[in-house]
Amino acid sequence: SWTPGNVASDAIARIREQVGDGSVICALSGGVDSAVTAALLHRAIGDQLTCIFVNNGLLRLEEAERVQATFRRGMGLNLSYVDASERFVTRLAGVTDPETKRKVIGEEFIRVFEEAATGLGEVEFLAQGTLYPDVIESEAPANAPAGSALSARIKTHHNVGGLPENMKLQLVEPLRYLFKDEVRDVGLELGLPPDMVYRQPFPGPGLAIRVIGEVTLEKLEMLRACDWIVIDEIKGADLYDRVWQSFAVLSDSRTVGVQGDYRTYGYVCAIRCVTSEDAMTADWVRLPYEVLARISSRIVNEVPGVNRVVYDITSKPPGTIEWE
Ligand code: XMP
Repeated sequence: SWTPGNVASDAIARIREQVGDGSVICALSGGVDSAVTAALLHRAIGDQLTCIFVNNGLLRLEEAERVQATFRRGMGLNLSYVDASERFVTRLAGVTDPETKRKVIGEEFIRVFEEAATGLGEVEFLAQGTLYPDVIESEAPANAPAGSALSARIKTHHNVGGLPENMKLQLVEPLRYLFKDEVRDVGLELGLPPDMVYRQPFPGPGLAIRVIGEVTLEKLEMLRACDWIVIDEIKGADLYDRVWQSFAVLSDSRTVGVQGDYRTYGYVCAIRCVTSEDAMTADWVRLPYEVLARISSRIVNEVPGVNRVVYDITSKPPGTIEWE
């Protein structure tokens, strides 16, 4: 019968069988899929697993800290933490086109990941949080280069935008027969913190596609502060688990404001909050005015550089969930 416990012990047995006494690496992103993958692998093979967490400087406030607290201190898992914030932000200088941002971030991720993996000695396996829906989507892809073990199934919408072929790693995909809800159940069963298991989706390119136009350290700083306030208020209103995504966007528009006796010229922050089943369509949430009011007044009071807040009331289609 299907219980999270059975599924977990099944997956653990399979991992042991596939991996033997080989070494495995796994990229942790902070998302639920990679978290559950890592937790399963850790249960199955302990120290034969090393996880790599790349801080790309595009993460939410405290995200890097949270991942380290859960996996290294909480689980005792081998975690290689790479702070590559400066590299990513440097590479993004002058880049304004959304798809170019994604490409730059994807390429830089591979470089950083490869460098980190090289330092680990002999590695034979790469663990990935591929889910059943990803497997169906990528069965017999038209553009899969022959002979490349890694090419076809890499999740295009994930941090791991594709890995170098010369790494020649075999894939370990313990979630490939599971749906998202089942993954969450397994995650709870393995003792992962509920706020990690029920985290809203967060795009691989992170805050870079929520800073409209050029990404700079200052803008990332502003957006991180706005984002924190949005999540804090949405959680405070008990809405976090009831919406698909809720977040802030830092527009590249500046408007005039007034603070005390001074005229300000600050950025416009947009709030996005949507319901959705599968991200293909989405509707904007009719947030209570009080929640909107608190978010707005906190942002303009607490985040220097932002002096105006607007709410996005566009559905998908024709809008997308993200702004870029
Ligand atoms: P859109 O904006 O296309 O987003 O309506 C649909 C869902 O996908 C997420 N998203 C991404 N996730 N890398 C990701 O990992 C990306 O480049 C990316 N772009 C959008 C978005 O957050 C939403 O959940």
